[in-house]
Amino acid sequence: MRRCGLCVALDAPDLVTAEAWARAVAPHAGLLKVGLELFLAEGGAAVRRIAAHRPVFLDLKLHDIPNTVAGAVRSVLPLRPACVTIHAAGGAAMVAAARRAAEEAGADRPRILGVTVLTSLDAATLAETGVAGGPVQQVLRLGRLAVAAGADGLVCSPREVAPLRALLGEAPDLVVPGVRPAGSAADDQARTATPEEMAEAGATWVVVGRPVTRAADPAAAARAIAAALGGAP
Ligand code: C5P
Repeated sequence: MRRCGLCVALDAPDLVTAEAWARAVAPHAGLLKVGLELFLAEGGAAVRRIAAHRPVFLDLKLHDIPNTVAGAVRSVLPLRPACVTIHAAGGAAMVAAARRAAEEAGADRPRILGVTVLTSLDAATLAETGVAGGPVQQVLRLGRLAVAAGADGLVCSPREVAPLRALLGEAPDLVVPGVRPAGSAADDQARTATPEEMAEAGATWVVVGRPVTRAADPAAAARAIAAALGGAP
C-alpha cells in the first residue's frame, strides 16, 4: 500500500511560535506547512528557518494570470520549498506556467500542487459563483484538468481522495487537510476523516494543524498521528 505521511500546518502569526512547533514535531512529520499567515508576516526567512527542520510545503494558493503565477513560483525557488500550491481553477495555462517555472530549479524542483475546491465552499456557495453540480464533481473536473496540465498533485477534502485515486491513478500526490485523529475536536472543519481512513483511501499526505499545534504536548500528538499512519517519516 502507498505510504501516507504527516504534514503539520504551522499556522502561527510569528516565526518564534512556528519554529517552536517545528522543532517539536519534526521527528514525526515528513513536511511542515507554511501558509499565507506566516509567509506574509515573516517572508522568505520563515521558509528558510522552517526548512532547517523538515522540507516545507509552501501553501500560497496562487491564482493569477499565467505569467504572474510563473513569476511568483520563480520568486520562491531560492527558498527551495518541497511543494507550492496554486489554484486549479486558474486554468490549464496557469498550471502549466507554474510547472514550467518550477522546472527551472532542476531535479529537486518544488512539486506543484493544485488546490481543487476549498473545503469552506459547499454546493450552495459554489452555485453562487456559477459552479453547478456540487463540490465532488467540481473537484474531479479540476483535478483532471490540473494533472493533465502538469500539476504533480492535488489538495482535496477527505471525501474526494478515493474518487480522485480511481480517476487519476497512482501518480499524483493527494494532499488532504481536515484530518482529525479519532476523538479529537473538529474545530471549524466541516468534513473530517481519521488518518487511518485517509491512508486507506490513498492519500499521500494528511495535513493536520490545530490537533497538533494546540495540543498540550505537540510532539506526542504528532507522534500518535504518525503511528496511526504507520510510523515516523
Ligand atoms: O488546524 P487544521 O488541522 O484544521 O489545519 C488545516 C490546514 O489545512 C490549515 O492550514 C488550512 O488552511 C488548510 N486547508 C484546509 N482546507 C483546505 C485547504 C487548506 O483546512 N481546503
